[in-house]
Amino acid sequence: MQIIHTIAELRARLAQEPNIGFVPTMGNLHAGHIHLVNLAKQQSQCAVVSIFVNPLQFGVNEDLSTYPRTLDADCKKLEAAGADIVFAPSVAEMYPSPQTMLISPPPIADELCGEVRPSHFDGVATVVMKLFNIVRPHIAIFGKKDFQQLFIIRELLRQFNLPIKIIAGETVREEDGLAMSSRNGYLNPAQRIEAKRLHRTLQQIVQSVQKGQRDYPAIESQTTQYLTQLGWIVDYISIRSANSLQHAAPEDRELVVLGAARQGNTRLIDNIEFNF
Ligand code: PAJ
Repeated sequence: MQIIHTIAELRARLAQEPNIGFVPTMGNLHAGHIHLVNLAKQQSQCAVVSIFVNPLQFGVNEDLSTYPRTLDADCKKLEAAGADIVFAPSVAEMYPSPQTMLISPPPIADELCGEVRPSHFDGVATVVMKLFNIVRPHIAIFGKKDFQQLFIIRELLRQFNLPIKIIAGETVREEDGLAMSSRNGYLNPAQRIEAKRLHRTLQQIVQSVQKGQRDYPAIESQTTQYLTQLGWIVDYISIRSANSLQHAAPEDRELVVLGAARQGNTRLIDNIEFNF
């Protein structure tokens, strides 16, 4: 496995690769990321993983400075997983001058996570576009855990005619159902125990919809109230069409329930796709 820090060296190394599979990450890797690397290995001949904590997608009061940076441990995990190349650029390498041109994502980027994280998805779309232009992958793998991000990346490909095939990886969970996340490490023991409730609560919503409950705004507000009473700060609980990510209409049968809520300062997100 090669670890490369500069764009020039990466471009030279990849110039003759006919089939590149790319997994963009911000590092502090866990089994969810490794699952995506395995998919890249299965579907391509050269698995490239980027590790870059992208300042552009963090808000002013967010955790950019404390976001865990664990490059050595990450490289060991990637070597064991059989990745071919790690691309770990510095901020100066990715942004040698101020990034004054940004990708402006569609209006859905202002809802859900975008409502509490204004311009977050501008930063995500911009860095992913830059990484695509640097790596020039044939396939790219993203996790369904960040369902809205995946949706926006698909839109980026479609609207900019990028010849890249997207593969979506299932969400990898801890034994108690908590979706794996680099941010889980911020949780204290009591918060960690409570954290599993987010996924359980989304599962209960799936069950009640599958049993015939159709008043989605009522489910959303009751669930928000329930979690709030238990000490969560709820950003949203939302039942949406899995295809358009718009609020689900009663006739929509392919749905996704998404949730984002905080335990203390730690923001957790999760979602479940389902049909009825
Ligand atoms: P990061 O949070 O490191 O996630 C990198 C990729 O891993 C994303 O596609 C994410 O959806 C996926 N992922 C995270 N947790 C997962 C889990 N438990 N199961 C399966 N996949 C999981 O998402 C980002 O970084 C950044 O926004 C990025 C796309 C790299 C742009 O900076």
